[in-house]
Amino acid sequence: MSNTRAGKKFRSQEWFDNPNNPGMTALYLERYQNQAFTVEELQGERPIIGIAQTGSDLAPCNKIHVFLMDRIKAGIRDGGGIPMEFPVHPIQETGKRPTAALDRNLSYLGLVEVLHGYPLDGVVLTTGCDKTTPAMLMGAATVDIPAIALNGGPMLDGWWKGERAGSGTIIWESRRLLAEGKIEYDEFIERACSSAPSLGHCNTMGTASTMNAMAEALGMTLTGNSAIPAPFRERMNMAYETGKRIVGMVIEDLKPSDIMTREAFENAIVTNSAIGGSTNAPPHLQAVARHIGVELNVKDWETVGFDVPLLVNMQPAGEYLGESFFHAGGVPAVMAELHKAGRIHTDVMTASGKTMGENLNGRESHDTKVIKTYDAPMRENAGFMVLSGNLFDSALMKTSVISPDFRARFLSEPGNEGVYEARAVVFEGPEDYHDRINDPALEIDEKSILFIRGVGCVGYPGSAEVVNMQPPDAIIRQGIKHLPTVGDGRQSGTSESPSILNASPESVIGGGLAFLNTGDRVKLDLNARALNALVDDAEWQARIDAWVQPELHHQTPWQEIYRKNVGQLSEGGCLELATAYQKVGQDLPRDNH
Ligand code: FES
Ligand code: MG
Repeated sequence: MSNTRAGKKFRSQEWFDNPNNPGMTALYLERYQNQAFTVEELQGERPIIGIAQTGSDLAPCNKIHVFLMDRIKAGIRDGGGIPMEFPVHPIQETGKRPTAALDRNLSYLGLVEVLHGYPLDGVVLTTGCDKTTPAMLMGAATVDIPAIALNGGPMLDGWWKGERAGSGTIIWESRRLLAEGKIEYDEFIERACSSAPSLGHCNTMGTASTMNAMAEALGMTLTGNSAIPAPFRERMNMAYETGKRIVGMVIEDLKPSDIMTREAFENAIVTNSAIGGSTNAPPHLQAVARHIGVELNVKDWETVGFDVPLLVNMQPAGEYLGESFFHAGGVPAVMAELHKAGRIHTDVMTASGKTMGENLNGRESHDTKVIKTYDAPMRENAGFMVLSGNLFDSALMKTSVISPDFRARFLSEPGNEGVYEARAVVFEGPEDYHDRINDPALEIDEKSILFIRGVGCVGYPGSAEVVNMQPPDAIIRQGIKHLPTVGDGRQSGTSESPSILNASPESVIGGGLAFLNTGDRVKLDLNARALNALVDDAEWQARIDAWVQPELHHQTPWQEIYRKNVGQLSEGGCLELATAYQKVGQDLPRDNH
């Protein structure tokens, strides 16, 4: 029997139909047919499609995929393929210690080995929770066999006493109310749980909704995939259509490298600004770009994306949640609006088999309260600023969450707008922050800038979401929600804090933050995109000379492997050696016996 695809064998045929090595073919066939696949199915002219299952009891954000699986498999069957589901290492943002970010690269490695080493011709990547989406895209990029992403979708909107309760965002708000003594601990927990009313991932424009929007903007999903809430009928339909479509992609040999081009990444960056997307998008997309071999620099986030207006009115930058975003048209409506303004590369190929321009044809906002037009946005210039100075080579600031109050308080000195000079208070990680934030000896006042270090990729390990530090209780009681915060870690995409974060290189490998002391003056100049410690050169050099690298405590073998091989957030936090491996799906592994 001959499997053909424009005269070319399917990859799976090397396992299941190789007359040159009948012994091995028999070994592969007997053990897959014993779970009731027929020999005809395995050897026939039908591609074998893997389904990378990211959902499990340990990964509730992606658990919906357990229930979508029937529809994905039905789509693959109706498309003419043979579905084979397999598990991937769980990455639950709210469950994994010390941080799910540590496991993104582990899950990536696992996926690469599965896609490379098993008889698969294409793959459906189930995505959802923050790091699951980049991990799946990174793996597909390295292997470069036909792949399509399917989001599980956001939870339904949460509600608390008649108000929308958004994932994460309500926790940051409630934490302040708790600090002010306005609510008790029990209400704090109730408020948090009200924001999670169903299966699905975060319903705010946090990292999950952002990264799924990025997958769609890159062209790696069917049109409209990312915003459909998890429990909706349309989500099940999308699962079926995605399954059906991957078979076509295998027949057409449409691979990630045909889709994720430099232009596609520029589309993603522009879209990220318009949706008010997470500061986690830059490291994740940098990682995907490096694994697919596309040049992308952290500075591209500003040059390509800064002057894009904020179009989506969704928490944390706005007021609505996932259901409203979906009903208003989701990502295609946003991209169509950007396209009208000439901001989208329309001729890029996508998973649908059509160009992005064709996908966006006829799409528009159905509710301009939620998805604004380009001419009447939520705000102008909503992208990231990329700062540098003697404390780091690069750090990001998300401008779409700078509130009028924050701007008035810190960035509006007459004649000196955008410039702020203050006293630094430095914390060594989140434990130190929690222990000392209310300590009067630190003399934190309403003008201080808070720093946190030792929380980057190597330091934490994995890079922790802790830079959005809450001010001391006494400052909150004065009505000040945010002080400027800076760090070499990240922050939750659900946070409305305008932190300066992802500072690279991080302090534990000798980045400038390592040499800052509490009490130093620091100067932020947004116009010059600079943040500097105002310490004289001789003193600064003396601190560099006296610096001793902190000893790192590895708790597991993976933590040690990760720390020895990981790069910095500005470079995507990749396993550096892994970025040299490209298109490994074409390099067929040897037989196993
Ligand atoms: Fe999983 Fe937000 S915690 S999506
Ligand atoms: Mg998080």
